[in-house]
Amino acid sequence: MEAPIDVAVIVGSLRKDSINRKVARALIALASPALNLEIVEIGDLPIYNQDRDGTAPPPPWSDFRNRIKRAQAVLFVTPEYNRSIPSPLKNAIDVGSRPYGHNVWGRKPAAVVSVSPGAIGGFGANQHVRQTMVFLNMPVMQQPEVYLGGADKYFDQAGKLAHKETEFLRTVLESFETWIKINIGQ
Ligand code: FNR
Repeated sequence: MEAPIDVAVIVGSLRKDSINRKVARALIALASPALNLEIVEIGDLPIYNQDRDGTAPPPPWSDFRNRIKRAQAVLFVTPEYNRSIPSPLKNAIDVGSRPYGHNVWGRKPAAVVSVSPGAIGGFGANQHVRQTMVFLNMPVMQQPEVYLGGADKYFDQAGKLAHKETEFLRTVLESFETWIKINIGQ
């Protein structure tokens, strides 16, 4: 049997009780044995500054870049901030994209899940992440689109995901697995 596919999960919220992190954990638990999903933390990445990049970049940037290089695919799970990408996530994307010519995101199949208590499920953030992924040469899964609205109601008192959403997330993961395999030639 082939080793499971290494999927880096990037959560766009740094908040302790983040709904996005709960959804990311639910996705990790629901994934098939063919996928190994692991959250890659972005909260300690210094804000990108080109003056600090080059031969001796801040170690957290190098560690992050090396981790993403190892990953075979990337799953973004993000809230929407002011109809766009939360700054910690945009920072992580920018860190991984540089120095020029060393974009670690290139060719990694990706999917974007946006999660919000609001009705439109972070549509703006989701589309802005997709726009960035296209520029960074990531094949982004087109369907299903995953805008999870009303997500503050997804989890019961015990932190368990309600059944209806579980089924949808299973479908998302199945499609993503197929998408990854097509793109990495498995
Ligand atoms: C928000 N929130 C928000 N929600 C939304 O649907 N569209 C938006 O444009 C915004 N804008 C926004 C800006 C800022 C600065 C904050 C802090 C929040 C609300 C947001 O969806 C809500 O706080 C979620 O709970 C954030 O996700 P986590 O942290 O729970 O994962």
